[in-house]
Amino acid sequence: MTARLIALDLLVTLLVAALWAGAVGCTLARKARAALAVLVAAVLVTAVRVAVVVALARSGWWFVQEKVLLTLPLVVLPGIAAALLAGPALVRAWPRRADPVVGRAAVAALVAAAGGAVSGVLGVFVLGYPTTVIGVVVLVLCTLVPAGLTLSNGRLSRLGAALAAAALLAGAGNAWWSSRLPDRLDMAAHPVDLGGGASAMGGHHHGGVSIADLRGGPVPAPGEPVRRFTLTARMAAVQLAGRTVEAWTFDGQVPGPPLRVRQGELVEVTLHNADIAAGVTLHWHGYPVPNGEDGVAGVTQDAVPPGGEFVYRFRANQPGTYWYHSHQRSAEAVRRGLFGTLVVEPPDPTAGLDLTVPIHTIGGTMLTGAVDGLDRRSVPPGTPVRLRLVNTDDSPHMFALRGTAFRLAAVDGAGINGTGITGAELAGDRLPLAAGGRYDLVFTMPTGPVQLAVDGRNDRGLLLSADLTATPPPGPDVGPVLDITRYGTAQALPSRFDREFTLVLDRQLRFLDGVPRSAYTVGGRVYPNIPSQLVREGELVRFTIVNRGSEPHPMHPHGHRVQVLSRNGVPATGAVWTDSFEVGPGEVWQVALRADNPGIWMSHCHNLKHAAEGMVLHLIYDGVRSPYVVGHSSSNHPE
Ligand code: C2O
Ligand code: CU
Repeated sequence: MTARLIALDLLVTLLVAALWAGAVGCTLARKARAALAVLVAAVLVTAVRVAVVVALARSGWWFVQEKVLLTLPLVVLPGIAAALLAGPALVRAWPRRADPVVGRAAVAALVAAAGGAVSGVLGVFVLGYPTTVIGVVVLVLCTLVPAGLTLSNGRLSRLGAALAAAALLAGAGNAWWSSRLPDRLDMAAHPVDLGGGASAMGGHHHGGVSIADLRGGPVPAPGEPVRRFTLTARMAAVQLAGRTVEAWTFDGQVPGPPLRVRQGELVEVTLHNADIAAGVTLHWHGYPVPNGEDGVAGVTQDAVPPGGEFVYRFRANQPGTYWYHSHQRSAEAVRRGLFGTLVVEPPDPTAGLDLTVPIHTIGGTMLTGAVDGLDRRSVPPGTPVRLRLVNTDDSPHMFALRGTAFRLAAVDGAGINGTGITGAELAGDRLPLAAGGRYDLVFTMPTGPVQLAVDGRNDRGLLLSADLTATPPPGPDVGPVLDITRYGTAQALPSRFDREFTLVLDRQLRFLDGVPRSAYTVGGRVYPNIPSQLVREGELVRFTIVNRGSEPHPMHPHGHRVQVLSRNGVPATGAVWTDSFEVGPGEVWQVALRADNPGIWMSHCHNLKHAAEGMVLHLIYDGVRSPYVVGHSSSNHPE
């Protein structure tokens, strides 16, 4: 609901600005009838805007205060004055189709209303949150200065206009200059957010721990078995039904080879880059590896160039479903195929069918695993089945299981309630899965066929049946949409925190490395200028994440899973730990993170296009430094 209201608010804000500007134009052009019509429309749509803001306030939207106190009065007050002053003159001129005799004061009121309406647009798309004193001054001046100039004589207004233009240019120039990516940028020497509104300059820690020393732990004991894998990144032509896609691959396939290990094993993965010119890394999405193994170019290592290699090592202590992907030019690399799945099995895996099902869209085709179409498998009735769903796309997918009841055994690798299966049985429920997220579904194979449907499509997903020719159980899927914050048994939630951070996600007009863009911001800033969150090892940290924009943001902290505390003010009644959770438009999520894995960890929106357009920040442990840099002089471009 809030999502629709926010979209409506954006639309109406733009429309109000266009109509008041139109009313000024028609009046100055002495078109009485047009001016009156546009004025009436402007008044009506302004009333709609007020109604939308009231509705947003009633739905508990976080940001309504700025609208009620600032941007609405800036258009409503001059709007009333304009209607009262200009309206009668326009009405009088109507029957005679005569030139309206509109006084200077009336024109000034119209201009003020237009200025106020435009400042509403600026407030949404440029200034954003938090509202600063300078922001308020700019919006008020936008409203009053043009009106004042209209009232005054010509010379003054030329001077005023020149001054205003100079101020605007200076502001924009400064924003442009400070947005350029420097030659070298060390994320450890970066402004930091200390929580609770305090901030500081980074780079104050000399000495300390280098990420290069936060590597995969002890070398294996003599005789200890090591699970070794080699992945070679290379360009390859991948065959889809009826066509060929030029992909970026691990070992020539999309997805890359599935990695499956046992809990407790020491894993060693050697990455070779054959010919990916952009460079490659391996990031273990959702797996809490030591920081030096996290695979983020420019933060935890240098991107591996063609001909190069890097060896990752970590102990697989935590069971569950994860995935790996390149974190160099990741928006393009993942989309084009540089990813695969990682499963850590418990020491005593239950027999039966255990299938990993990554969903990925490449070249406009949605793959289920490596299959372009419906993946049919024969499964005898009575078999215990575990489906490990992995969303490797930028957008959420909606899953449904037709033909059987099931339970959710894990979210993002972690068991429900941190242990085995305690979630209730679901039947017909639809499961929204955030970009980057995973679900483990378990059930016992019934006698009839079972289909895993993706986004309601009959020609995609998985079809399990005793006999390969079975007809799929029919859709459509109309069950309730599962809210994972309410699945599982309630547990005591922590209520005392060592630090608190608030992240406001938005979309605003910004310069990105010197180029003006409609960018994705956190606290009004874009990468690399978003302050890092500074923590100390052992602290319990609360994040409040608020989406002020009109698009969902699947947020992904590296190296940690977080416990969901509340969603939209409603305490979580389930017990869910996640590393990829979607904060919808207007939503407020509160999550707790235990700082138990020292390093410099990227956090970002896993709609990787949004990350590439600004929505990237870092969690920094006090005392950790990085020998790696991003910037024009490096070849590291993690986003
Ligand atoms: Cu899949 Cu930075 O992550
Ligand atoms: Cu996003």
